[in-house]
Amino acid sequence: MLSRPLRLCLSLPSDLIPIILLLMLSEKIQKLIEAEFPGNDISVTVPEVQTHGHFTTNLAFSLAKKERMSPMQAAEKIKSAVIAEDPEKLIEKIEVAAPGFVNFWLTPKSIQDIFARISQSKNFGKSKVGDGRKIIVEYSSPNIAKPMHVGHFRATIIGDALANIHKALGYKVIRWNYLGDWGVQFGKLTAAYKMWGDAKKLKAEPIKHLLELYVRFSAQAKINPEFENLGQLEFKKLENGDKGNRKLWELFRKVSLKDFDKVYKMLGVKFDVEIGESFYESHLKPLTKSLVKDGIAKRSEGALIIDLEKYGLPRALVEKSDGASLYLTRDLANIKYRLSKYKTDKIIHVVGQEQSLHFQQFFRVAEMLGLGKDKFFHVGTALVLGPDGKKLSTREGKTIFIEDIINEALSITREIVKEKNSSVSAKEREKIAKVVAIGALKYNDLSQSRLSNIIFDWNKMLSFEGDSGPYLQYTYVRLKSILRKMRPSKFDPKVLALPGELDLILKLDRFPEAIQKSAETFYPHYLAQYLYDLAKSASRFYEEHPVLKAESAVRKARLALISCAADALKTGLNLLGVETLERM
Ligand code: ARG
Repeated sequence: MLSRPLRLCLSLPSDLIPIILLLMLSEKIQKLIEAEFPGNDISVTVPEVQTHGHFTTNLAFSLAKKERMSPMQAAEKIKSAVIAEDPEKLIEKIEVAAPGFVNFWLTPKSIQDIFARISQSKNFGKSKVGDGRKIIVEYSSPNIAKPMHVGHFRATIIGDALANIHKALGYKVIRWNYLGDWGVQFGKLTAAYKMWGDAKKLKAEPIKHLLELYVRFSAQAKINPEFENLGQLEFKKLENGDKGNRKLWELFRKVSLKDFDKVYKMLGVKFDVEIGESFYESHLKPLTKSLVKDGIAKRSEGALIIDLEKYGLPRALVEKSDGASLYLTRDLANIKYRLSKYKTDKIIHVVGQEQSLHFQQFFRVAEMLGLGKDKFFHVGTALVLGPDGKKLSTREGKTIFIEDIINEALSITREIVKEKNSSVSAKEREKIAKVVAIGALKYNDLSQSRLSNIIFDWNKMLSFEGDSGPYLQYTYVRLKSILRKMRPSKFDPKVLALPGELDLILKLDRFPEAIQKSAETFYPHYLAQYLYDLAKSASRFYEEHPVLKAESAVRKARLALISCAADALKTGLNLLGVETLERM
């Protein structure tokens, strides 16, 4: 019998295992190897195929080089050393596999024990590794007076997930929307508005009207170069504090933000700071001065440039010959401000990969300014494509509005939900449709590497089967519906010994690691893929193992198991910004 009563994920908050003490199986194996082979970088992973054990390590390859032996010999050495030293009796079997992998099978007891710990732990999956550390997660960052494009949309979803994930690891997170609200384009817009603006239209459909004006102005500028000058002139006036231009700019900013907020609200995204490029206006001259004073920037044909040849990068421009600042100048002022005000350990920028060169130059100059190294990251994102694999646009080839995308997802989902849940009230159905549609959009993005182009394929995205948001949400709902029929209670983990049961426990064992890996690499798809894996194991589990109909001891243990799986699914999906429902 167990020495003390076990509690479940769901139950009493007192007397729970602090997360920090919960060492997962993979970490235990890692520590075991480490004890025998200190000073090595040891990775313990789950093999691709189950016949290669529960865990595997490739340590033999580096060890072989160090100790001048073959990888197979090194693997044998690891095997005998670890077999001799296994105080917790974790391991049932170790095998060496060509060309030098060491594969581990764990005893059912060690798997059952970890489950006992998991089921007792509070906030399973979350941790405190980031305690006392601060991170700024910059994401979304659309440009005012223009529609938020799908690239910003992607960055919004990925950035929000990364912010949630870091928070779950104990970091203090500052969510920052760095609005593109400054630059010569506002001069052009002002000029256009003065000529053709319509206050009524601006009120009714702000972004559409502003975009129209901008497009019209650009078209004119192609024919008549005078327009370019006009734009520059109006921007100069704005920079010099002209009241009328300032007022117009403020209006453009206000109506744009209102429009963006609609999207953020639908997505459930909130920022702590919405400081954009304009904020740094007064910081720019002192900044360029100090760049010159420190010998970092020099004049070249009237402009201020920074030579980055030693880093293998093209030179960077920080001031145009007419004295105007640039995107880079504002980013430098921005990072200086952030560091001095927030004293952060890390600053990440979730921005389209096409800006990679900008960020490389930016970080190098920041380094030259003594602002630090290895603290700033560009978390790049690839493109969003239409189902035809081409850039996403409307049938007429026009810009797609994010609101329209969300509405499209909603209208398709409404139909599906209506078909599936004809008995549910209209209000309830609408709620389900929203959660499913937004979840599907987000998951479609988050389940794929941020550096892969993603495709908007409504069928796949909204399918209730396969790697999709609805499938994961639905798996959670099915687990919860079992748990509603019978509440989990005290159980004996030793009862869980079938392969399907142990498999699900082993999946749960990897939850904390999946969260951490996503944080360390800034790739949320590791967590998403893990959740898909967990959902598949959980579905297989309850399809193959009766829960409510099982005999009492087994039923209790299985209820505990699906309860923990449900909790992990919910926690994980919520970290991705995907909501869960109790019924659907
Ligand atoms: N507003 C910019 C754009 O839409 C993105 C800003 C990215 N962040 C930055 N710190 N530069 O292209």
